[in-house]
Amino acid sequence: MIGMNRIAVLTSGGDAPGMNAAIRAVVRAGSEKEMKMFGVREGFEGLIAGNVVRLRARDVGGVIQFGGTFLGSSRSEAFLTVEGRERAVHNMREYNIDALVVIGGNGSQCGAWELSKMGFPVIGIASTIDNDLYGSEVTLGVDTALNIALEAIDRLKVTASSHKRAILVEVMGRKCGYLALMCAIAGGAEAVVIPEAETTPEEITRDMVDAYRRGKNHALVVVAEGATMNATALTAYIDKHKEALGFTTRTTILGHVQRGGVPSAFDRILAARFGVAAVECLAREESGVLIGLSKDEIITTPLEHVATRKKELDLSLFQMARVLST
Ligand code: F6P
Repeated sequence: MIGMNRIAVLTSGGDAPGMNAAIRAVVRAGSEKEMKMFGVREGFEGLIAGNVVRLRARDVGGVIQFGGTFLGSSRSEAFLTVEGRERAVHNMREYNIDALVVIGGNGSQCGAWELSKMGFPVIGIASTIDNDLYGSEVTLGVDTALNIALEAIDRLKVTASSHKRAILVEVMGRKCGYLALMCAIAGGAEAVVIPEAETTPEEITRDMVDAYRRGKNHALVVVAEGATMNATALTAYIDKHKEALGFTTRTTILGHVQRGGVPSAFDRILAARFGVAAVECLAREESGVLIGLSKDEIITTPLEHVATRKKELDLSLFQMARVLST
């Protein structure tokens, strides 16, 4: 090969289940094409520090079934500066790296776009449990995170029903309500609170009271962490009005437990497809794009669009969740 011979891969931002499987796919697909593959430790921080290791096919054995990322990740403050990014490009040139694969979500792909603008060939792989990335209908890790949250919700519903309690469950997602909405639909919630369709505490508690009136013995509300009325605020409201409302509530904030799980079959397969597609792009000397999924097909989207456009949540699903909660 004359063009893309030496390829580095890194994982950046919040880890997502399936990242290891994606690193493995990139390394093995590249090695098969006789590219020399490298791993950058701790994301963009490692790029700035020049923390680069050679990765061969055998080095990525036994990682497919683990969550997290064996390369490590970071949210790099230094990479937000021009000096940091120049240092990163300088280091890649020192190692004679021809192109970089960035596995990560929104912030990471904005970083990838910055490198691309500096003339360095980069390919992104859509990976975040938030599923908020323009350029992919489904991102790597969201399926596993959703199933972890759902298992918790199913359990919480059991104990809620035993006590006729209301249960609030807050799920991650940053400013995006995707995870919360999918948890609500799959978990059979009585109400869902998401940033894309803000509701008042009066409306939410009215839905909860209605659920009891209809004969239910629990009221489950899934709350997105990014909603103005998050679980902490809603709990405070319910506590203040508990006499009038006629029920008590318990609140669970799932937090990082959603991130650390064993990647589902779907996420491992998606990781494999994304990783191989990234290498195929580089082999034909295409870069500056994100590898994503649309209608079960692998697609590429310019990193510029990924960095500057917003992925919209399908609000018809919000209406559907409301209808099904009756
Ligand atoms: O982007 C993934 C995510 O888990 C978000 O859902 C959450 O808001 C954030 O990362 C938490 O970030 P950190 O792990 O840095 O606390």
